[in-house]
Amino acid sequence: MSDKAILEYNGKRYEFPVIKGTENELAIDIKTLRTSSNGLITIDPGYKNTGSCESAITYLDGEKGILRYRGYSIEELAEKADFLEVAYLLIFGELPNTERLNQFHADIKEESNVDEEMKKILDGFPKSAHPMGVLSSLTSALIAFNPTSVNVGSEKEMYHAIVRILAKFPVLVAWSMRKKKGLPLDYGDDSLGYVENIHKMMFKKPTHEYQKNKVVIEALDKLLILHADHEQNCSTSTVRIVGSSHAGLFASLSAGISALWGPLHGGANQAVLEMLEAIEADGGDTKKYMAKAKDKNDPFRLMGFGHRVYKNFDPRAKIIKVAADEVLADLGIDDPILEIAKGLEKEALEDPYFVERKLYPNVDFYSGIIYRALGIPTEMFTVMFALGRLPGWIAQWREMRLNGEPIGRPRQIYTGENLRPFVSVEKR
Ligand code: ACO
Repeated sequence: MSDKAILEYNGKRYEFPVIKGTENELAIDIKTLRTSSNGLITIDPGYKNTGSCESAITYLDGEKGILRYRGYSIEELAEKADFLEVAYLLIFGELPNTERLNQFHADIKEESNVDEEMKKILDGFPKSAHPMGVLSSLTSALIAFNPTSVNVGSEKEMYHAIVRILAKFPVLVAWSMRKKKGLPLDYGDDSLGYVENIHKMMFKKPTHEYQKNKVVIEALDKLLILHADHEQNCSTSTVRIVGSSHAGLFASLSAGISALWGPLHGGANQAVLEMLEAIEADGGDTKKYMAKAKDKNDPFRLMGFGHRVYKNFDPRAKIIKVAADEVLADLGIDDPILEIAKGLEKEALEDPYFVERKLYPNVDFYSGIIYRALGIPTEMFTVMFALGRLPGWIAQWREMRLNGEPIGRPRQIYTGENLRPFVSVEKR
């Protein structure tokens, strides 16, 4: 096989190297295209065919339904690892041994205090504020309390920044939910595991002792692992591109949270639940909504179906579907919303429109059902996604900075007016 690609344009031939990844993925390296061809660029809105970087973090094959973090399959990690181990693996490249993991956790606990003044910023938001907006703002506000920018040349400083955000971010997540629910703000408990502590910070009632529930913690752990990274998706690309201007880690993460918020990305889990609730309120007729989803004159889309990359079953959806069943059985929840979800899933998997377009349920189709069962308000679902994605964003930001990637700055093809004379206002 040739390791070169030839482009012919206007009678001229241009040669480009073809590079190969460790899983034999191929890419035409067009870095020299514009300079060698006197201005020719490629155009690819939505970047469906464009690689923005070389990365050693996450591998996914959307056709085969494969997802691996640092070479480990998502199925094995979801079954055998916990979220903190996965976070370490994603960020630093290897699974930690017991000593390293304990040290990592101890370092995180050491940094878990969030400045009391941050509460004043939270107070400024109305209770009706969407928690994703609150989280993005609070993450950005953290910069004011941790103003020194990280020297990425120092492994120690980089480690410290990473530990700080892994410690403080769950506090912000918990605060944004407690504000929504009208609960007093709470701090964690150092005697608890990382995910247990998150659960405690979110749910502990002022008048009750915190009660651990193994099934709930395991489901939460699994959900966070499944969301921990997904290579160059919209929010991760945002984190990398913001970071490429040498904006700090917290600023880059805050931008990533905003990108995740949209209903075509992380906001889909909230959109799924809202859609299921709307179908229920409308009498539960799934066939009517299937027809709407297929009608090209109707903007309605079946939320939680389809994926930019997976054109086969989303491997995360398979794992989460089982977890959803377990949690609902354990908590004794008989949810009519779940019946509607199952009905839609069955119909879509048999419907030629969905089959031909390879539209399968994605991870968010099921995650919302678990979050709902755990008592997490619908508006918090995307915040939970952000909590899970945090290690992935950090890993990708770190990799981008350590690789010394240039500032992200796409080109365009201009389609506007040519030069024209200014017309004064009275003559327009
Ligand atoms: N319901 C109905 N039709 C759909 C759906 C859907 N959920 N998704 C895609 N289609 C149709 C499109 O109308 C299009 O049909 P056409 O070829 O006849 O024009 C075809 O399938 C391809 O759709 P695109 O939008 O081109 O696919 P793309 O890869 O760009 O989009 C996306 C993927 C955005 C996820 C899309 O499937 C969607 O909007 N899904 C619903 C929202 C959702 O669940 N998002 C979560 C993504 S997962 C995540 O972020 C973790």
